[in-house]
Amino acid sequence: MAYHEAVYDEPLIFEYRSGTTYKLPGVEGKQKIDLPENLLRKELNLPEVSEYDVVRHYTRLSQMNYSVDLGIYPLGSCTMKFNPKYADAIASFRQFSEMHPLQLQSETQGELKILYELQEYLKAISDMDAVTLQPLAGAQGEYTGILITRKYFEVKGELGTRTDVLIPDSAHGTNPASAAMGGFNVIEIPSSENGTVNLDALKAALSEHTAAFMITNPNTLGIFEDHIEEIAKMVHDAGALLYYDGANFNGILGVTSPGIMGFDIVHFNLHKTFATPHGSGGPGAGPVGVKSHLKDFLPVPVIGKDGDRCFLDYSAKHTIGKVSSYTGSFMVLLRAWAYITYHGSDGLRRNTVNAVLNTNYIRKRLEGRFSIPYKTLKKHEVVISTENTGIRALDAAKYLIDQGVHAPTIYFPLIVHEAMMIEPTETVSKQDLDRFVDALIESSKLSPEEVKKHPMNLPVSRPDEVKAARDMKVRWDGSTHGN
Ligand SMILES: Cc1ncc(COP(=O)(O)O)c(C=O)c1O
Repeated sequence: MAYHEAVYDEPLIFEYRSGTTYKLPGVEGKQKIDLPENLLRKELNLPEVSEYDVVRHYTRLSQMNYSVDLGIYPLGSCTMKFNPKYADAIASFRQFSEMHPLQLQSETQGELKILYELQEYLKAISDMDAVTLQPLAGAQGEYTGILITRKYFEVKGELGTRTDVLIPDSAHGTNPASAAMGGFNVIEIPSSENGTVNLDALKAALSEHTAAFMITNPNTLGIFEDHIEEIAKMVHDAGALLYYDGANFNGILGVTSPGIMGFDIVHFNLHKTFATPHGSGGPGAGPVGVKSHLKDFLPVPVIGKDGDRCFLDYSAKHTIGKVSSYTGSFMVLLRAWAYITYHGSDGLRRNTVNAVLNTNYIRKRLEGRFSIPYKTLKKHEVVISTENTGIRALDAAKYLIDQGVHAPTIYFPLIVHEAMMIEPTETVSKQDLDRFVDALIESSKLSPEEVKKHPMNLPVSRPDEVKAARDMKVRWDGSTHGN
């Protein structure tokens, strides 16, 4: 069965002219507000819609979307798992949704306790010594880690010489971007034949100029860097810090940790691993954990505890300052707390094991049909290449959408040609895994011309993605600026 999005010929809300507009009770004709002449507009092209027009319009639009609530969403590097509804339900409790961050700490003890517990959970999960909940995304967590690195070397008097951040060629684009924004030179480290960091190249690049090595493990090929302890030693021997991009935590949660592997700094993507859906750019939370030697550099406030009382702790001696308002994205943090509390350590570990099992089930079923670079067991995701089938990854992805499954990430990581990066997660049944694999295999049996005809059954088929990115028209009328 294909669960793809509905196709409606739905007009823009501004194009509705039903004549029945919604009237605010008691307002009409009774109030006149004197506004300065220069702020008055003669023409206000407001939609003319009734309440039911509005509800039906947006319900139809929602049905024209694919979402993780509709079916499998195997977007590699994004961990689009089904997010349990109890976490949403908890986040909508009035006791949370009606709080204000500027309320007195004596009135927000419950919220502060939750944040404190989440810090403790994340410390235990990562084996780090201190955590800030402030960063609002993985990329902002990286940037926070980079600012901590800067300040650390500044205090040590080494900032002038520690100018480089080393990053593997399989890394997510935000890693070099964060390092460059933090004022460091980025040096790319090539991967070896088996998809892990090339240790000789790393050794050659490490020097007294190295500030940090940023790496994710499992890496973006879904491969566990089994030399990680050796890497940690090499990096520390060079006097540099080891940074863990925690976006791929779904592959190790409850099984091992960045602290055990020897990392100094880690960010978490709570909106990937811990129960907040993060499609379309947010909302997110990217807490950062550090080992004790970096604790004093964390953004303030962190949540402290004195006996039974929780409080906002501004005492970090070399703090980099604030990276977001208040204590971060409370509703995302709350969902993560609920998720971790609900699963407990055994449950989190079980989720990881199932995510890894699902990935390798897909890998095994696709072997022989698609080329799968780096023939090892994969963790949370598997990268295949469509090159050997004669069809392009983009075309296979478009075909999949027509079959009612969301397409995986394509053309990433950059080191694999015609890459499809598949991350099923633990929340997919065997039936859905099979449906996904069957559809992908079907795509590879079509001729390049046939597969290019897809998608045929969607409201939007093949938009010009370059034009959409470069020539953005974000207003309903297609203009680029407002009045
Ligand atoms: C490996 C990796 N690192 C970092 C990030 C950045 O995370 P965010 O999208 O939350 O900024 C991502 C996002 O997909 C990622 O996959």
